[in-house]
Amino acid sequence: MSAVDISRFFANDGRGAIGNAFASRRAVMPWRGRQPVANGDIDTIWRHLMSRQGSSQGRLAYIHVPFCANHCLFCGFYRNAYTAPGATAYADRLIAEIEREATEPGVRHGAINAVYLGGGTPSALSARDLTRLLDTVRQHLPLAPDCEITLEGRIVHFDDDKIDACISAGVNRISVGVQTFDTMVRRRQGRRASKEEAIRFLTGLRDRNRVALVVDLLYGLPGQTPEIWREDLRIAADIAPDGVDLYGLNLIPGTPLQRAVAAGKLHPTPLQDLGAMYEAGALFFAKAGWRQISNSHWARTPRERNIYNLCIKQGVDCLAYGSGAGGTIGRYGYSVAGDLQRYNAAIAAGYKPLDGMNVSDDLDPVRHRVAAGFEVGRLDLADLALPHIPDVDALFTPLLNQWQRTGLVTLDGNLVQLTIAGRFWYSNLIAAFNDILAGTLPNAKSV
Ligand SMILES: C[S@@+](CC[C@H](N)C(=O)[O-])C[C@H]1O[C@@H](n2cnc3c(N)ncnc32)[C@H](O)[C@@H]1O
Ligand code: SF4
Repeated sequence: MSAVDISRFFANDGRGAIGNAFASRRAVMPWRGRQPVANGDIDTIWRHLMSRQGSSQGRLAYIHVPFCANHCLFCGFYRNAYTAPGATAYADRLIAEIEREATEPGVRHGAINAVYLGGGTPSALSARDLTRLLDTVRQHLPLAPDCEITLEGRIVHFDDDKIDACISAGVNRISVGVQTFDTMVRRRQGRRASKEEAIRFLTGLRDRNRVALVVDLLYGLPGQTPEIWREDLRIAADIAPDGVDLYGLNLIPGTPLQRAVAAGKLHPTPLQDLGAMYEAGALFFAKAGWRQISNSHWARTPRERNIYNLCIKQGVDCLAYGSGAGGTIGRYGYSVAGDLQRYNAAIAAGYKPLDGMNVSDDLDPVRHRVAAGFEVGRLDLADLALPHIPDVDALFTPLLNQWQRTGLVTLDGNLVQLTIAGRFWYSNLIAAFNDILAGTLPNAKSV
């Protein structure tokens, strides 16, 4: 039985769950329950992982491009300023890294179902660099015939030549960060394109009809009123991409926006307003007939599969390439050097620089089932009944009953389904489950 007092995970009662269930939103912690591997052991374990055949249960690859034209004020992903020579030198290193590992059994065996080129801004690379990088990916990684290949991009500097180069080289999904269409709100955050330019760009991409087009929107940006948000939703739906992401703004420590809030120059959007914006988005796309395929993602067409993002939540193995990339193989998680100079120098010297490695505990498969289930709004408690978990019902039912009374979930036997409010607070629900699970195993720290 849990050693944790579950009443601290109870939702507030009586004032409407969407904005008031909890005092704050908890962060999702993908590395939770993992123990660091001693520095001296990392190389040996890495060589062992590469020498074993890769999983046949589905795999992913992530390729990181850590450059941006400028630092958008809200963003915690910014690492390095884009320069043309720096980006080309980096593409050389990425290609070398992929080619060098290609013959390892840990890469060669086991089909890869989704590749994600993320950043930063992969669309900042030149057309030539994008072509040779993608050619390398297709030539050297064992991609499944229907592999989803996503490129993350932003509107500025993403010209027709680059789009053609990506599509010709195999990209079949483009995820464009728009955040908001409102020119004033965009520009205040460092987004350079105007509303009209954004609409023209996205419409052009849609009309090519050659990739799944996904649009990222943020809610809770400074100056983004509920009216502006409703207009953002309307414009996105009118453009008719294949999918949309609706992300609630996180105030990420160290970002210019968070510093401005900490200094009292800006006020954060209250949680009640964030919740109301999420609810407005969820109801809007439901009414428009779009499918909700995760808490933050809606698909309009069957072309949009969202394979990479869904599989990551399920804990599917992911090979990682590039400075700042993170991956997982079996029980091991690893991250490639985030410092660009260190990465470039190490790859040029013939080895992969790992910043760190960790290993999961026995609860990891259960955590993934919880995260993957809550991510798609439905969890079957029977899926958590693994040998080392005591009575699942006794562990979670009192809490789930409280969440049902307060409007976060509905219960039907073993099946837990999240309401719209539950989906807004999903990271708190996952964190509560994880805290309770952590109390179940005396050997929770064993590796
Ligand atoms: C890794 S970023 C890359 C986006 C791309 N470089 C661009 O500028 O459009 C992917 C997405 O994360 C989301 N994101 C960035 N900062 C965020 C924050 N502070 N809170 C919530 N979502 C954020 C944005 O919607 C963004 O499009
Ligand atoms: S939003 Fe995109 S372009 Fe802007 S700083 Fe973040 S990763 Fe870079």
